[in-house]
Amino acid sequence: MIFDTHAHYDDEAFDKDRDALLMSLAAAGVGAVVDIGASLESTKRALELAGRYPFLYAAVGVHPSDSGELTEDDIWWLESVSGREKVVAIGEIGLDYYWEDVEHDVQKQWFVRQLELARKVKLPVVIHSRDAAKDTLDIMKAENSRDIGGVIHCFSYGKEMAREYLDMGFFLGIGGVVTFQNAKKLKEVVEYAPLDRLVLETDCPYLAPVPYRGKRNSSLNLSYVAEAIGALKGISAEQVEEATWENAKRLYRL
Ligand code: NI
Repeated sequence: MIFDTHAHYDDEAFDKDRDALLMSLAAAGVGAVVDIGASLESTKRALELAGRYPFLYAAVGVHPSDSGELTEDDIWWLESVSGREKVVAIGEIGLDYYWEDVEHDVQKQWFVRQLELARKVKLPVVIHSRDAAKDTLDIMKAENSRDIGGVIHCFSYGKEMAREYLDMGFFLGIGGVVTFQNAKKLKEVVEYAPLDRLVLETDCPYLAPVPYRGKRNSSLNLSYVAEAIGALKGISAEQVEEATWENAKRLYRL
């Protein structure tokens, strides 16, 4: 079975057919999905979806690009919903220096604050890190993230950085990018990392794999990602799906 560890079904890209799409996943072999909060609004919607669909779980948190207006009251609210039954992680949180829309110091402040929250409520974290390799690693080391645990979502750095996070006990989230012909660095990371530390993710509606690159993504496309990982590891797509299913359950403590 397929476990989509990172999806945004609360996104407006799914407004027209969300229910039909979600109801079609089980027949296609997708057994579980975690809808990831990116802002306070999307976290609310993720919680609603988790209440409606038995196979869907929620992560609560605020993405670095949405952290500019955060307040302590918002952190208190995140804490208050983090104890709900189907909340499995704090995320996505981290640093994004690609979109220069929030000051680095502000991003860092709320990244640290949400790591502290995860530690307090004993949930793993979903980390977003783009063009911010060194600062992300420095903060996670300083915050003893090994004791928190979690996943580096849409892993986009090289082998050296992968080793740092694997040593920290983290999982690596692998999605559609691994099917791109020019994704040499990521393919090396997938070859290098132990199979029991990889999890499948879509980041849908974004990052659809080949042959749907550029189109709206959904969990239905994860078989292409499993196939690409299998080809790199010399095993079948089915073996990848089975292993990553077990890994995702360990990651989210289900
Ligand atoms: Ni995401």
